[in-house]
Amino acid sequence: ATTLGSAASAKGKYFGTAAAAYKFSDSVYTGLLDREFTMVTPENEMKWDATEPSQNSFSYSSADTIVNRAKANGQRVRGHALAWHSQQPGWASSLSGTALRNAMVNHITNVATHYKGQLYAWDVVNEAFSDNGDGSRRSSNLQQTGNDWIEVAFKTARAADSTAKLCYNDYNTDGVNAKSTAIYNMVKDFLARGVPIDCVGFQSHINSASPLPSDYQANLQRFADLGVEVQITELDIAGSGTTQANTYANVVKACLAVTKCTGITVWGIRDSDSWRSGDTPLLFDNSGNPKAAYNSVISAFGAT
Ligand code: G3I
Repeated sequence: ATTLGSAASAKGKYFGTAAAAYKFSDSVYTGLLDREFTMVTPENEMKWDATEPSQNSFSYSSADTIVNRAKANGQRVRGHALAWHSQQPGWASSLSGTALRNAMVNHITNVATHYKGQLYAWDVVNEAFSDNGDGSRRSSNLQQTGNDWIEVAFKTARAADSTAKLCYNDYNTDGVNAKSTAIYNMVKDFLARGVPIDCVGFQSHINSASPLPSDYQANLQRFADLGVEVQITELDIAGSGTTQANTYANVVKACLAVTKCTGITVWGIRDSDSWRSGDTPLLFDNSGNPKAAYNSVISAFGAT
């Protein structure tokens, strides 16, 4: 039978989901996870607070649960996220300056080494640009260690794992705007200077108030034209019924139109699994039944 993964594979793309290890005792959840998807992103289990709860002591068990299940299912894995201002363990969020910079480098080295050769891609840096409309960096403890923290993170990840594609990941970048253009300029600069970067992740958390921008595809294409892969990394679309289904189809069509768009990941399986479940933004309802949006994704890939 057709699945999201098989429909996408027929067009040379992956179709993935965020996965939560603590839901692996729910057989409806794991049934859908194992059957429908060809890529998996640990929703929280690879974040700094989860993997290095106290300084220089690492715990990988819940993330390994996800990675091992994916491997057993022939699914690939996206790592998420090595350096991010959010979900830092308390000991890190209270650091600054050289101490924080060194802690970030040590964290990336250890975690990227642990998963070396096992991941399709890493979200090396997540959400480093601000939403204030001027293309500036987000002011965070990591930013305050120096403007070069992002390239240091990428170089550190590459030194630890030469196989994973190294991505920059962000949200509110779904059209051509000050934030996406600032990221575009950073990627262009990195490529010009030989800073290792392979991909840009577009989270694409879409609100019903602001549906897909008309330049969504053009924005993806301009990054692809720089020579990096583009990935839709956290797709969820607030709404329901036909409107929601059509917007999902439009995201699929945009990715199909951009050769370097390698795949789409939805940020959860059932609406009840969503970080914003009240928006019913995913492809399966709370009982795990496919919604109209599911059918429109399948048909947008040209499958039936
Ligand atoms: O694991 C603890 C649990 O032990 C505790 O009982 C419970 C209540 O306090 O909290 C649980 O941790 C929660 C975790 O999700 C796992 O469920 C955290 O409080 C909660 O903050 C965390 O939320 C996650 C959020 O990132 C945090 O920033 C969401 O699940 C996750 O979907 C969301 O994902 C982010 C991406 O990583 C980056 N892009 C935006 C996206 C949505 O915010």
